[in-house]
Amino acid sequence: MKSLSKYAHSERPPWALVTGASDGIGLGFVQELSSHGFNIILHGRNQSKLQTTITTLKSQYPSREYRTFIHDAEQELTAEILSNLLTSLQDIHLTILINNVGGAGSVTPAWQTFLARSPQDVDKYINLNLRFPTQLTRALLPQLTENQPSFILNLSSFAALYPAPYISVYAGSKAFNLAWGASLKAEMRAEGIDIDVLGIVIAKSQSAVVKAETSFWVPSAREMARKALGEVGCGRKWVTPVWGHAVQQWVLNCLPEGILERVVIGAAKGEKGRSEKVE
Ligand SMILES: NC(=O)c1ccc[n+]([C@@H]2O[C@H](COP(=O)([O-])OP(=O)(O)OC[C@H]3O[C@@H](n4cnc5c(N)ncnc54)[C@H](OP(=O)(O)O)[C@@H]3O)[C@@H](O)[C@H]2O)c1
Repeated sequence: MKSLSKYAHSERPPWALVTGASDGIGLGFVQELSSHGFNIILHGRNQSKLQTTITTLKSQYPSREYRTFIHDAEQELTAEILSNLLTSLQDIHLTILINNVGGAGSVTPAWQTFLARSPQDVDKYINLNLRFPTQLTRALLPQLTENQPSFILNLSSFAALYPAPYISVYAGSKAFNLAWGASLKAEMRAEGIDIDVLGIVIAKSQSAVVKAETSFWVPSAREMARKALGEVGCGRKWVTPVWGHAVQQWVLNCLPEGILERVVIGAAKGEKGRSEKVE
């Protein structure tokens, strides 16, 4: 991953902030970035789980430094929380932001009709997948600009490209994520600021919530993170870095609209049935 070294350009040690970092793909990003010489601020909601994660990381990467940023991303990111975060980052050289956290969070069942969603659950989805990454990025942009070249990576989903039933707020948030990131990337270019912004489109990947076996179609969380970071410097506004996912995307894009809709509805009904059983 030669391109990552672009963001370790100062004499000061380079830092990355990874959201949703205690598990799943977020932890995969932390491990990959650690192995490439970055110190990490791990964001999460569970202090003791993050501390246990850091203890394990320290045994694997003894020369790396780790800090935590504790906040439940389903809740409002207040000015006070952001101000405390910025104060805690004043002494470090932050050049990478990985907006990873997302999904259904505490909302169950994850697959449900829009009509059956409570206003509180709609807000949790929007906070976790849309408000949190947007406000966090806005708050960190001055520091990332000062430390340029810098890099922002946003985790999106097939849900943005193939909006399935029963996850409408999630799908909409992930589509926002792609368009917002692409606009921000163009804005950085327009303003002559050396901050690259890349959207990552992914389908099913092993994680804390997705317990599927790994295969050509389903990467492990670490592999998912490695493939995503392998796209740093590709120059595109968004990319599907896992081959198995790119093949699925190619096939879906070849289908006529009506058949695609039937395929998406069929798959979503299966997911809804499974998520109701889990509940
Ligand atoms: N995995 C997939 O198949 C898949 C597919 C498409 C898109 N994605 C996207 O990829 C990203 C990562 O997904 P993932 O499956 O790895 O996620 P995950 O396994 O559900 O969660 C991983 C991390 O997010 C943290 N987290 C969850 N809710 C949080 C909250 N409210 N506040 C703070 N931290 C929270 C978890 O903390 P705790 O340890 O405290 O729970 C954990 O550290 C998401 O943006 C997701 O939408 C994933």
